[in-house]
Amino acid sequence: MTEANASLAEAPEEEKVKINRQEFLNLAWLASLGFLVLEVSGVTVLFAYPRFKEGEFGGIFTFGKVTDLPEKGSGPANIPKVKLWLSHTDEGVIGLYKVCPHLGCLYGWSDQDGKFICPCHGSQYELDGDYIQGPAPRSLDRFALQIVDGETGEILADNSTTDFGPISLNNFPENAIVQIDTGNRTEGANHD
Ligand code: FES
Repeated sequence: MTEANASLAEAPEEEKVKINRQEFLNLAWLASLGFLVLEVSGVTVLFAYPRFKEGEFGGIFTFGKVTDLPEKGSGPANIPKVKLWLSHTDEGVIGLYKVCPHLGCLYGWSDQDGKFICPCHGSQYELDGDYIQGPAPRSLDRFALQIVDGETGEILADNSTTDFGPISLNNFPENAIVQIDTGNRTEGANHD
């Protein structure tokens, strides 16, 4: 084979190597772009979905029918799963956050004393969460609460317009349901 023929035979091989490098760079660039798109989509999906599931703390908790609530003035319903005390006072039903506003202990209800008492430093609160005494700076925190029609889901009462205060239970149908939004709460009032 002459020199001229030999260089002609090698030329396509060099060309092939150059094309492969270019293809590799293109593929690497496309792969990086794909990963970036996937990452951004994943983050978007995470933000689009609710962070808390229904029935868990931080989400909407369905207690049950209004007829399942404790008798007016009796001890509150204890629902530890969602850090909730559900009290039925003379003014109506109210949802209380189970964490003491002093230093974060879990306070409890005393049937004997008829009030909430914190075991850590002795702060005490009424059935509706109002501060009685102790080092706590304020009354108990309250959750947003709704009464909804058990069949249609229509909202019959909502305490978010009344500072999360008690909802009076007069005039609701028997199938009305109590729902608490444990992701939406307000601080109790400070005392002097
Ligand atoms: S944490 Fe409840 S009184 Fe201190």
